[in-house]
Amino acid sequence: MSYDDQGQPANNDPYSYQDPSQYDPSQGYTGYESGSYENQGYDNSGYAPTPPPQEQQPARPQLQQLQRIPSGVPGFDQIVGGGLIRDRVYLLSGPAGAGKTIFSTQFLYNGISKYNENGVYVVLEETPQQLRENMYNSFGWNIQTYEDNGNIVVLDAISSRLGLSSAERYVVPRPFTLESLLYEIQNAIQTVNARRVVIDSLDAMSLELTQVDLRSLIQRLTMILKSFGCTTLLVSGQAETTSQGRKSVEEYVVDGMIRLHHNLEESVSGETTLEQNALQGNSLEEDSFSMKVRSRKIEIPKMRGTSHSQYQHPFIINENGIEIKSEPEVTKRLRRAIFKAKQVD
Ligand SMILES: Nc1ncnc2c1ncn2[C@@H]1O[C@H](COP(=O)(O)OP(=O)(O)OP(=O)(O)O)[C@@H](O)[C@H]1O
Ligand SMILES: [Mg+2]
Repeated sequence: MSYDDQGQPANNDPYSYQDPSQYDPSQGYTGYESGSYENQGYDNSGYAPTPPPQEQQPARPQLQQLQRIPSGVPGFDQIVGGGLIRDRVYLLSGPAGAGKTIFSTQFLYNGISKYNENGVYVVLEETPQQLRENMYNSFGWNIQTYEDNGNIVVLDAISSRLGLSSAERYVVPRPFTLESLLYEIQNAIQTVNARRVVIDSLDAMSLELTQVDLRSLIQRLTMILKSFGCTTLLVSGQAETTSQGRKSVEEYVVDGMIRLHHNLEESVSGETTLEQNALQGNSLEEDSFSMKVRSRKIEIPKMRGTSHSQYQHPFIINENGIEIKSEPEVTKRLRRAIFKAKQVD
């Protein structure tokens, strides 16, 4: 199969230049012709310049109400104004282990199980089998059953990228090229008539590309995905703002951004005990209660066409996947201020 579209007939493009010498009068002429007012009762006795014929304005597309799709991730839709806007492309970013793959799988899995929307998962960083096993063992999400039923395609793009063979049904052929990747993504979307797509991750796809090439790749990909009517998560592990303070290219191209954070923080239960101690007049030895716990947060830095939360929202990963608290977090600094005020009293 050739991925080259250079062989298309030149006259396919309605806006392409046509050599006037090739004009065929038998086809009729729609332009401004001399004599076209003959025999139409035209009276030129009181001649006044005739206004040029009005150009036909192309019909303006009707403004459509934006459609929302539920993510199925508890708490998420509330922080993006009621759900992701359909047919748009979003950047899901965060450091290693932040929960990007879990969020993405939950989005696709719920699409099939709850909202009757098929999906495509393009894996570029782990094998399809690893994805199936991780998601089944951690959350009981059986991707394989949905593959067998024709609801989802897991496209293996990692094997050929690494120059390895693959026993997968849907695989990007070797040698790996971006053209073949784009072709196979389209093929996968058509195979299951997908409405949700995940590309995990952009970083693996963009290796060795210049900033300019990367931008044009993402723009092309975005156009393809939108033309198929797919709501898409592009996963990225990279920090959005480079060390030089420049925004990364994908930020400009996508319609919205979802950012996941995780870091170690002092345990909340330790703080509560400290507060209780203070109220009971006990000595305060903060060190004795210091305990670190991994804290996860999600924020929406950008979402075109909708209002959205401006807060960082805590979330947890449990046996059901990701759950987000849609109320904004009361920060530790605020709790400390309250605590100190109590001490003075
Ligand atoms: N059943 C579970 N319960 C709680 N936490 C879990 C469970 N399964 C996985 N996790 C957490 O999720 C993390 C992995 O999440 P995920 O694979 O989505 O990260 P990621 O952002 O895709 O990372 P990477 O960039 O490395 O691919 C694990 O490191 C672990 O902390
Ligand atoms: Mg991942």
